[in-house]
Amino acid sequence: MIRSVITGTGSALPAKCVTNAELAERVDTSDDWIVERTGIRQRYIADETEFTSTLATKAARAALEAAGIDASEIGLIVLATATPDHTFPATATQVQAALGCGGGVAFDVQAVCSGFLYALATADSMLRTGMAQKALVIGAETFSRILDWEDRTTCVLFGDGAGAVVLEAQDVAEDGPGILASRLHAEGAHKDMLYVDGGPSTTGTVGHLRMKGREVFRHAVVNLADVLTEVLADTDLGAEDIDWVVPHQANARILDATARKLDLPTEKVVVTVDRHANTSAASVPLALDTAVRDGRIKAGDLVMFEAMGGGFTWGASLARM
Ligand code: ACO
Repeated sequence: MIRSVITGTGSALPAKCVTNAELAERVDTSDDWIVERTGIRQRYIADETEFTSTLATKAARAALEAAGIDASEIGLIVLATATPDHTFPATATQVQAALGCGGGVAFDVQAVCSGFLYALATADSMLRTGMAQKALVIGAETFSRILDWEDRTTCVLFGDGAGAVVLEAQDVAEDGPGILASRLHAEGAHKDMLYVDGGPSTTGTVGHLRMKGREVFRHAVVNLADVLTEVLADTDLGAEDIDWVVPHQANARILDATARKLDLPTEKVVVTVDRHANTSAASVPLALDTAVRDGRIKAGDLVMFEAMGGGFTWGASLARM
């Protein structure tokens, strides 16, 4: 059967790291409050020379190298971001130009923190229907550019970064590698709980992120547990078969609560929120690349990806590496 197989991963972070103590010099907060409520200890913040496209291109190059393929073989780039370089063209096309692999398909997906899950499922469908053979799926963000740096309830939570995977259509055995199942959801009625108060068609400005954190937290735990159960039900596998969960890194407490709901041991959950904070669409591929490169995630492992974000949008994918 034809499946989309993850053959390489890569990631990129801005050069500048900002600790909680440094943030406490700008807004009325403390390292203790941030660590206790979120698990975040530091985040990386892009400087004026670093853009979503530059971070994405760096992550893509690392993923191509890990997969052992040349950029010219890539026929599809799906890039998830809520912080594109420009309103248009799509940042994916800028990455395509930087990699020198023009002519194929390249577009952005906008599902905020769930963006990578939406991009992965989209690329998987396109590969399985033969629209391309090899794809780059990227999550990249510069959320620092849409934060209200005077709002302590949000500015401490986010960071910048990018992660990428190479996805290849391969003819594999039933128990072979590849994406096994994916589920996506959206519920637009919850827009006001997490949104940016600007945009080209409304205010004509970029705007700032606004969030009702407590409400988001409550919905995240319920929605994520439900979608993980749905994805498992699409396969013959159970929660006990999962080797690793690579979740969206929003908050250590959401990760713990979701793992508890599914009876998953916390040792199986890849956590990078302490180092990267919430990098929105970049967080899942960044965490995946971290765990692949430090040797935790290996070929043959069953890995669950999950995320929830603004919209609300949420989703999960199960893949054998
Ligand atoms: N430093 C110090 N105090 C703060 C800070 C801060 N950075 N931010 C808020 N406070 C204060 C508040 O003003 C409030 O004070 P008050 O009681 O005097 O009014 C108090 O801390 C408690 O505020 P809450 O908002 O109730 O704190 P809560 O325990 O809910 O934690 C948090 C807030 C961390 C945002 C939590 O609700 C959360 O993680 N929600 C999930 C949101 C999220 O992760 N969103 C990311 C995008 S969506 C996604 O990725 C799933």
